[in-house]
Parts: sequence; C-alpha cells; structure tokens
Amino acid sequence: MSADLAVIGLGYVGLPLAQEASRAGLSVLGFDVSTTVVEGLNAGRSHVDDLTDDDIAAIRAAGFRASTDESDLDDTDTIIICVPTPLSEDGGPDLDAVMAAVATVSRHIGRGNLVVLESTTYPGTTDEVVRPMLEESGLVAGSDFHLAFSPERIDPGNAQFGMRNTPKVIGGQTRACTERAAAFYRRFVDTVVEARGTREAETAKLLENTYRHVNIALVNEMARFCHELGIDLWDVIRLAKSKPFGFQAFYPGPGVGGHCIPIDPNYLSHNVRSRLGYPFRFVELAQEINATMPTYVAQRVQNLLNVDGKAVNGSTVLLLGVTYKPDIADQRESPAVPVARRLLALGANLVFHDPRVQQWHVDDNVLECVPDLETALTRADLSVVLQGHAEYDGDLIAKSSPRVFDTRGITPKSDTVEHM
Ligand SMILES: NC(=O)c1ccc[n+]([C@@H]2O[C@H](COP(=O)([O-])OP(=O)(O)OC[C@H]3O[C@@H](n4cnc5c(N)ncnc54)[C@H](O)[C@@H]3O)[C@@H](O)[C@H]2O)c1
Repeated sequence: MSADLAVIGLGYVGLPLAQEASRAGLSVLGFDVSTTVVEGLNAGRSHVDDLTDDDIAAIRAAGFRASTDESDLDDTDTIIICVPTPLSEDGGPDLDAVMAAVATVSRHIGRGNLVVLESTTYPGTTDEVVRPMLEESGLVAGSDFHLAFSPERIDPGNAQFGMRNTPKVIGGQTRACTERAAAFYRRFVDTVVEARGTREAETAKLLENTYRHVNIALVNEMARFCHELGIDLWDVIRLAKSKPFGFQAFYPGPGVGGHCIPIDPNYLSHNVRSRLGYPFRFVELAQEINATMPTYVAQRVQNLLNVDGKAVNGSTVLLLGVTYKPDIADQRESPAVPVARRLLALGANLVFHDPRVQQWHVDDNVLECVPDLETALTRADLSVVLQGHAEYDGDLIAKSSPRVFDTRGITPKSDTVEHM
C-alpha cells in the first residue's frame, strides 16, 4: 500500500500524529505489532484518551488504515517510529521495542525515504543504534535516505496544546536530513525548531522531563518541612508565582507517575553513569524524594486517623483519583498504587473513586469504583484526594467526608481538611 506517512506504534503518541498528518491531507498508514490495537482501530475504536471514536472515524474516512503486515511499509515515503521506551529490570533503558521497530523498517526502507525516531531515548540512540541497523539494508543515511530524531511532546489531556501548536524539535543525521524532516513536519505542525543534530534533539527531551522531575521533587521536599513548620506551601507557591519572571510554579503530590517523568530521567542518568562513570546527582536525588512520597502520604493518613482516635487498621479510607494525572484514564506508574499498597498493608478497608476508572488493580486486589461518590465520602473515615480530576467538587468533598487529606489542594482547608 502506498502512503505519504507510516506511523509505527499506534499509542498515545503515534495516534495523535497520524490524526494531525491525516487532517493535513497526507495519506497515513498505521503499523503496530498488537492485533488488538490494529483490529480495534480498523473497527473504529480509539484506545487513547486524546482521540474519540469519532476522531478515528474521521481519519479512516480520510484514508487511514492500521496494519500488522510489515510488507505494507514497502511503498511509504516517510516512516515515523513511536514505540515505547520503558526501563529494563535493572533500571536502565530498554530499547527492545525501538530495535524491533527499526529492524522492521530496515527490511522495507527504500531510496529517498525519511525515517524519524520520536520515542524518548538516551543521547546517541539515533546515530549509534538506529542508523547502523537501517544501513544493514545497504542504503546509507544522509545520502540514500534521510534520518532524524524528533522528540514527542504530547501532553495527554491538555486541551490547549496539541500536536499542531506545540513546537516540534528536529535534529537530523546531516543538515540535509534536518531540512527534509523539518519540511515534512511543517506540513502539519505550526512551528519547527531545528537542532544542531540528533544528540541535541534527544537530550532536549530529557532535559525537559528532568526539569519537571527535579522541580516536582523540590516542592515535594518542601511540602514535608512546611507541614512540620506550620507553613501553607500552597499559599507560598501562589505568592512566588506572582513574580512575572524567573519562576515557574510546580505543585506537590503523592509522587510522580506516567511513563515519562518517572522513567525518562533514568535514560539520562544511566547514560551519564555508564559512559562517564559518575552519577547525575540531581536526577538521583529527585528520584529518591519522589519515590518516598507514597509512604509519606500513608503516614499522613495514619496521623490524621490518629487525631480521631482511629487506627488505619479497620478504618475505611477512600482514595479519590487513581490515574497518574488529571482528566485522563491512563494509570501507568501511578503513585496511587504504592499509596494503596501501603494502606492495605496497614489493614485499611480501602475503597476508591475515579470518574475514569471502573475497575482498579492493586497487585492481587481488584477494586470496583464506588457507585456513589457522595455516599462513599460520608461513609469513609478519611478521604484522600490523589488526583484533581475536573469532575471533583472540592467543596462537596470537604463538606461530605468526616476527614480529608488532600494531596492536590483542590478542597478548602478547614479543621477537618488538611493539605499536603
Ligand atoms: N504518552 C505520552 O504522554 C508521551 C509523551 C511524550 C513522549 N512519549 C514517548 O513516546 C514513545 C511512545 O509512547 P506511547 O505513550 O505512545 O506508548 P504506547 O504504549 O501508548 O504505544 C506504543 C505502541 O507501540 C506498539 N509497538 C510496540 N512495539 C512495536 C513494534 N516493534 N512495532 C510496531 N509497534 C510496536 C505497541 O503495541 C503500542 O500500541 C515512548 O518513547 C514515550 O516515552 C510518550
């Protein structure tokens, strides 16, 4: 099948890309190894938050088709790889999916193709891993085909910034590769930012996520001592952010989740350690602080129940919002799981509510979302706000639950409502 663009990996990143390219009039083929994903899409079903079934219908009407048959890649002009880059068992980069996808591409690459890697990865991947594998085809990067890295910046659930209006960083293997890739993306992205090369583009993505990780750790550490000192950190942040320059607000929470913030900085710290032999101390410290937050939340729950003369053991604790960020259904790496694990270990009668999650798995425990939020709030000994979904009415939570611990600052503080 001939296509202007083949997107490899049809997930949170690949599908919005396919959608935007399709809207711009490009013919788009989607390739994925998962038959469930491909069959679902071809039947008109979306499996990611940012696209509805209607969106899938619209791109299908514009010619989009998903496939598990790699021979479909034979006659495509541009191929963009958006497969997962998780961590291996030892906490280092796991490039298995990237290498499998690149091996697939190298079997079908043709003269004049443009290949772009979008998966988040450590500096050097495009040049040291992707390029040699593609050149096994007998074609040479920079002369026979173009190769570039362009980090994905998608922010699931963000209503303001999507694929089109988020500037796209592009770093090519050669200057001509950068220019070719930039010209391609300009067809459906408003602003393209050219990097010096692939390594700079790879590292820019890691800097962005490490910056978030470190700043979240900073406020999480402050949350602990501000509580001890009787200082309202939320008010402190409100005041600091009135400065119109030099400060960006970050907020505390029960830990970091998703598959970017807790994972991507490891790609950088692992790379620094393995290549240079010394640690990237900011990342390691941020990890240490953020990883202890779920236990800290459980401790605060324990202390609050204690105020009412109750033990965690036997108390009904209602967790509100178990996804890793507000207004999406994605639960990957959500800190709600370690919070729940800790409370269950202490003997809590754990219940949960999330407008986007019906059934929640915590290790071997399968929990069903409570049927009625207000009743559950009234019945709980304590409610913990873990995620500030738009559906949550802070006043209702504060008014209905006998005691509240709010890690997101969405409720009005009172004698019975404590903030992180
Ligand atoms: N989700 C985000 O918010 C986000 C944001 C920025 C960057 N990223 C990065 O983008 C990359 C993709 O993330 P995602 O969230 O879209 O992942 P995802 O898990 O939602 O989707 C990945 C898809 O790739 C498919 N896949 C795996 N191996 C494959 C192969 N060899 N060939 C073809 N398909 C294959 C999977 O079946 C899956 O459908 C990762 O590197 C991630 O770090 C993600």
